[in-house]
Amino acid sequence: MSRRAFFINALMGVSLLSGIALMASYFVRFLFPVSNVKVSRKLYVGDVRQIPPGKSTSFTDLKGQKLNIVNTGDEFIALSTKCTHLGCQVFWKERERLFFCPCHDGFFDERGNVVKGPPPAPLTTYKVEVVGQGVYIYVDEVHV
Ligand code: FES
Repeated sequence: MSRRAFFINALMGVSLLSGIALMASYFVRFLFPVSNVKVSRKLYVGDVRQIPPGKSTSFTDLKGQKLNIVNTGDEFIALSTKCTHLGCQVFWKERERLFFCPCHDGFFDERGNVVKGPPPAPLTTYKVEVVGQGVYIYVDEVHV
């Protein structure tokens, strides 16, 4: 075998082995996918004086998801604004101290529990923390 033929065969062999190794790595990643990592982020909502008792304020997180933060007088509660029936936006009715879904007359109390109407489940709640005068919420994010 000539030196030239030897180098051509060696180059083709290395290329073939590299291709097989790359395909094997994709196959292993397909069989054993990396598990999703759940990260909880603490987001500043505002000052406690901006949300007096009986009031609610809306907040949009970094992914554009809307939340309502309610001051019940005893605590702050953060709830999704997405109705659990068909996903319409719920609104705070201050006088009744209820969240109202105008799509099919669904009502939720200030803790997100269903009071009346077709919603099958309570509103999604988020952890709230008050540090000094600041109100913070914790939002979970999943990283793939
Ligand atoms: S979508 Fe809210 S009650 Fe139907």
